[in-house]
Amino acid sequence: MRLSSVLVGVSLQALQAAALPVGSSESPFTSTSPALASSTAPPVYDWSSGYESQFIIHPSCNSTERHEITSGLEQAVTIAKHAKEHILIHRNSSKVFQKYFGQGPTGPVIGWLDKIATANRAGVIFRCDDPDKNCVTQDGWAGHHRGSNATSETVICPLSYTTRRPLTALCARGFDMATGRTNDYWAADLMHRLYHVPAVGEDEIGHYADGYSELLELAVGANRTDAARNSASLSYFALEAYAYDISVPGEGCAGKVVEEEHDHDHDHDASATSSAAGAAATSVNPTRVIPVSTTAAAPVATATGGGAGKECHTHDDGTEHCT
Ligand SMILES: *[C@@H]1O[C@H](CO)[C@@H](O)[C@H](O)[C@H]1NC(C)=O
Ligand SMILES: *[C@@H]1O[C@H](CO)[C@@H](O)[C@H](O)[C@H]1NC(C)=O
Ligand SMILES: *[C@@H]1O[C@H](CO)[C@@H](O)[C@H](O)[C@H]1NC(C)=O
Ligand SMILES: *[C@@H]1O[C@H](CO)[C@@H](O)[C@H](O)[C@H]1NC(C)=O
Ligand SMILES: [Zn+2]
Repeated sequence: MRLSSVLVGVSLQALQAAALPVGSSESPFTSTSPALASSTAPPVYDWSSGYESQFIIHPSCNSTERHEITSGLEQAVTIAKHAKEHILIHRNSSKVFQKYFGQGPTGPVIGWLDKIATANRAGVIFRCDDPDKNCVTQDGWAGHHRGSNATSETVICPLSYTTRRPLTALCARGFDMATGRTNDYWAADLMHRLYHVPAVGEDEIGHYADGYSELLELAVGANRTDAARNSASLSYFALEAYAYDISVPGEGCAGKVVEEEHDHDHDHDASATSSAAGAAATSVNPTRVIPVSTTAAAPVATATGGGAGKECHTHDDGTEHCT
């Protein structure tokens, strides 16, 4: 076991430095006036520290697990940030936006994407042991939110390392949005897991629809205002915007819905047919290692006694997901 924790994240500078995929590459943040720059008054918040923008990798993760999760989180941040910028540039004229959010306003979607792209990630913890014994007892689980046992914690099970794909393989290996399993990609899978953490999803993001066809229906149906706070709508949109702008520019890999029998899974934890995940090239920044003593207290303190029980949601295809 490694006696260290790692904070994964993206500094504001790194985000600003990352080139916009489309449109202007110029930073919207211009330098301050000389008068302000020379002021000795402290800033309201020192964004340059970057510290508040980092996820925590629990010491239960060994070196390779840490690398996999770190890279996966960077990919989740990459697609969330890209998706936000896609909307900021194209506004509601984006066909990909319209597909998942209909004629809905862009603001709520931008906001929920930004919760992953740039918001304060302090205290959001990923661990690799199996404190609730779900990895060993639940067949096919690749991870789970600890729910009332520890609301800020997400467990990543060993299955993730053999089934999750890197963002660089988006639109490859036979994948398309309509028939593929988006959760096979670390980026989409971890976006979903992050939205279960109250600090990110604020218990507002939920599962109002899952799976490609349902998402398209949600966007135009009676409950269309739920699309902007629907976990799968946000992660599918982020993945497809990236596919369209970056993976296969101007084309993407939307695919076509085939008759009922397509067996895309709505499940968050299922085993997969895919190959091992590899490292992905991302535009995000270095990890940060901090002593275990400074983070160990929080996870333990948030754990509560049993009794609260599982909080599970069952999807239409019968798969169960326990938060
Ligand atoms: C886009 O937003 C404008 C308001 O800025 C609205 O009038 C228009 O109907 C919207 N279009 C779509 C396709 O949502
Ligand atoms: C970390 O744990 C995984 C099992 O999840 C194992 O396959 C891997 O070899 C371990 N890595 C190191 C560096 O010990
Ligand atoms: C809309 O949401 C309500 C409450 O969640 C639900 O009862 C209803 O079936 C939904 N309507 C449609 C068309 O999905
Ligand atoms: C919470 O802990 C209890 C007791 O260990 C366990 O039975 C339950 O499955 C855990 N809940 C989740 C969501 O893992
Ligand atoms: Zn879920």
